[in-house]
This record gives sequence, C-alpha cells and structure tokens, in this order.
Amino acid sequence: MAAKDFLDEIRADPELGGIYEEARAALESAADSEALEGVRVAYLGRKGRLSVLLQGIKRLEPEEKRRVGRLGNLLKGWLEKALADKGGLLRIGEMEEALRREEVDITLPGRAFPAGTRHLLSSIIEEIEDIFIGMGYRLVEGPEVELDYYNFEALNTPAWHPSKSLSDTFYVDVPGSGSDDVLLRTQTSPVQVRVMEATPPPLYVIAPGKAYRRDVPDATHSPMFHQVEGLAVDEGITLGDLKGTLEHFTRRMFGEERDVRFRPHFFPFTEPSAEVDVSCNICGGSGCRVCKGTGWLEILGAGMVDPNVFGYVGYDPEEVSGFAFGMGVERIALLKYGVPDIRYFFDNDLRLLRQY
Ligand code: DAH
Repeated sequence: MAAKDFLDEIRADPELGGIYEEARAALESAADSEALEGVRVAYLGRKGRLSVLLQGIKRLEPEEKRRVGRLGNLLKGWLEKALADKGGLLRIGEMEEALRREEVDITLPGRAFPAGTRHLLSSIIEEIEDIFIGMGYRLVEGPEVELDYYNFEALNTPAWHPSKSLSDTFYVDVPGSGSDDVLLRTQTSPVQVRVMEATPPPLYVIAPGKAYRRDVPDATHSPMFHQVEGLAVDEGITLGDLKGTLEHFTRRMFGEERDVRFRPHFFPFTEPSAEVDVSCNICGGSGCRVCKGTGWLEILGAGMVDPNVFGYVGYDPEEVSGFAFGMGVERIALLKYGVPDIRYFFDNDLRLLRQY
C-alpha cells in the first residue's frame, strides 16, 4: 500500500486524523533538535498521545481494534520516519552553525606559553660544576639527613665544638632510637668522608647540595642554603695546587682580572686552613659598600686535608695528601649578581627570578 493511501485512511478517521495533523504541524514548526525531541515525547513517549491511543485499542470491539491498530501503527511508523528525517536535517543545520560559531582564525598570532627558566641558584651550581668538571673533577652526592659521625666526628670535629650545639644544628628525632646521632647536615663536607670511605685515591670530586643550620633568616642567613664541596686527594698534592685550582675557579667565575688571597683560618678537618677572598668585582678592589671598603670578598673556606680525617677513612697520610674546599652558593650568587638579600632566592618572586 502506497503511503498516500494509508495517510488518506488516517485522515478520514477523526481521532487518528487529528493526531496526524497536529503532529505534522508540530514537526514543521520544530526549529531545533530539542523542540523535535519534545514532539517525539508528546506523541510517542510513554504518555504520548499516539502511545496512549495504541494502548487503548485493547478495549475496542475486534473489528475496530484491528482497524485502529493497523492505522495507529502505520501512523506511528510514519511519525518515526518523519522525526528521523527532520532530525537529520536539523542536525546538519546545527553542525554547520557550530562550525561557523567555533571557527578558528588560524591567521591570528598564537598565545605563547610562558617558558620557565632555571632558578638562579641552579644556574650558579651548574656553572661551578662545569668549571670543575673542566678540570677533571667528578660529581658526587651525599644524604641531607646525616649521621653525626659523617658530619662531625670523622671530620675531626670534637664533641665540644660549638657547631654541634642544639642551637646551631637541626637534630632529627628518630623515634625509639634514644640517640641524637641523626641530623640535617650542617655542611656538605660529610660527603668527603663518604666518598673516601667508598673509593681509594686518587680522587677529584665536587659535591653540590643543600645544608641546614638553625639560623634566623636575615639578609645573609637562611636555615637552608647550598654549598659546593670540593676534594682532591692524590700523591704529592700541595697548597700550591689548592691555590692554583681556586685561582682558576674564581677567575672563570668572577672574571679574569680577579685576584685571590688566602687568609689563615681554622677548620677542624683541614690543616692548614684558609678563608679565600676574591678581589671585589663591584669596585675592582678600590673599596665599596659590598666589600665594606676592604676591596676583598670572602667566597670560600679551604685547606689541606687533616691527616686525622685520612685516618677515619683508611687513607695513608704518608702516601697521599689532599686539599678540600667548601663554598656557599648563595654567597657566590649574591656577590656575582649583587643580589642584596639571600631571602630573595627563596621568595620565588618572579620579578627577581626572571632577571637571570
Ligand atoms: N664546611 C665548611 C663550612 O661549612 C666550609 C669548608 C671549609 C669546607 C674548609 C671545606 C674546607 O672542605 O676545607 O663552613
């Protein structure tokens, strides 16, 4: 039976005809998918007009039941197809509309990703590493949570030494141990002991890392800071080697025209010991605010490894000698770039960090 025929039959029935005409008008005026779904529900939903009518046919006389059942189902089929056809059309329109709305103008300039940069301290550490690697040194690391033995005892630092006091060192409470052997290293020097313990001479190493001290933060103090430790042990190493090495380092770091001087000092693990100054790179040595008028800036501590330290690690001080040095990274950054306050390094204010 052609579509026309059953539509005529439907139209001829007052009730089905009414549903048909109204559904057709509703379909026509449905302007988008949402409205169309409304039409579907209104006629074919569980309580839709056509569904209700089809549910009702069971109460009709057999003849009527057959007639209305047949026409009702034909009407349902027609409506389902009409809904699908119109749905397809609407979706195409809506897709085109969305494409127009979401069109991307590929000729517009892009938005650049903000590129991160290295933290100033990381670059300084890398610079120091590069200079020493260039002289044949090897990079090593040690733990930040250290044992008293490595941080003090094996570095020839006696129990009464002031740096061992509770007010200077962060001790780590190890529950149940009842001992105060564990601490946050106050210097990177314990790495010297660990490396010598694990490796026979000769040895040329640097150990960058964090160190901790119970200091109240101010312009020149921070409870966490960075150091780079250096250690060279070989046959016949002299103070001259130490001086030459540090001279080379400071000139690479601060400029070729820099001078270096050694001032006698004391460190428990070196003998003799010195503090090393570089001629002020701000005023060129004539005296300024940064060098406090002296023309010199202190940049590190150094010395010849004390034979007692060799004793702790099983090196024979009759066979080998060595030098060691330790520098504060923040201090070097402060001097090299004229940063006036150590706290700036840890505030993470982008206005400062972006400058380097
Ligand atoms: N560990 C010392 C400090 O934190 C610095 C230092 C001095 C390291 C002399 C050394 C050295 O290796 O030989 O003050």
